[in-house]
Amino acid sequence: MKFFVDTGDINEISTLVETGMVDGVTTNPSLVASSGKDFVALVRDICQLVPGHVSAEVLATDVTTMLKEAEVLRTIADNVCIKVPLTVDGLKACKALSAEGTAVNVTLCFSAVQALLAAKAGATYVSPFIGRLDDVGESGMQLIRDIVNMYDNYPNLHTQVLAASIRSPSHVLESAMAGAHVATLPPKIIWQLYNHPLTDKGLAAFLKDWEKTGQKLI
Ligand code: E4P
Repeated sequence: MKFFVDTGDINEISTLVETGMVDGVTTNPSLVASSGKDFVALVRDICQLVPGHVSAEVLATDVTTMLKEAEVLRTIADNVCIKVPLTVDGLKACKALSAEGTAVNVTLCFSAVQALLAAKAGATYVSPFIGRLDDVGESGMQLIRDIVNMYDNYPNLHTQVLAASIRSPSHVLESAMAGAHVATLPPKIIWQLYNHPLTDKGLAAFLKDWEKTGQKLI
């Protein structure tokens, strides 16, 4: 499973890249707003740090303007992935961009039939939002399972399931068990994946016993 970082915070991305766990980045207009940075400059900086896909979202809602914005975004760097919303116009833009070889992430997916449309439009990624579905009393994880199972019926569909709106390590585990290709994770969740109290306790005991030997390896 690939890990993307879901943030517009360049410092957090930089620190996480050093872990070797980061395969790409997703941003959205809210994350760009909270970064306080110029959108194009921010995407450029992230693309230099991370070799994998960096999703940058169009702001227009009509296909003509979306395609003009996509042109601006994709000239920033080769690894920019154009993010479009799962709307009629968004999927028209997806189809046009995909046909010319541009990577597209279709975002704001909340149903399996929406994911079917994204795949038919040639999306590179579809982003089902787990946490936001859970927030309204639906099962985000069931949606991930449904989309993975549905896509498996059609080997000619190459859209990757990008589990988004992840709020906990168990969302990561269940997405991986369901076969999602990618999970986009807030930095806090990536750090949480490392943690287990028995790891800390075990390491402390090993080091204490090692001290008793009086030996040094280097
Ligand atoms: C995905 O690309 C989105 O940016 C993100 O996962 C949304 O997460 P949220 O529901 O926590 O805002």
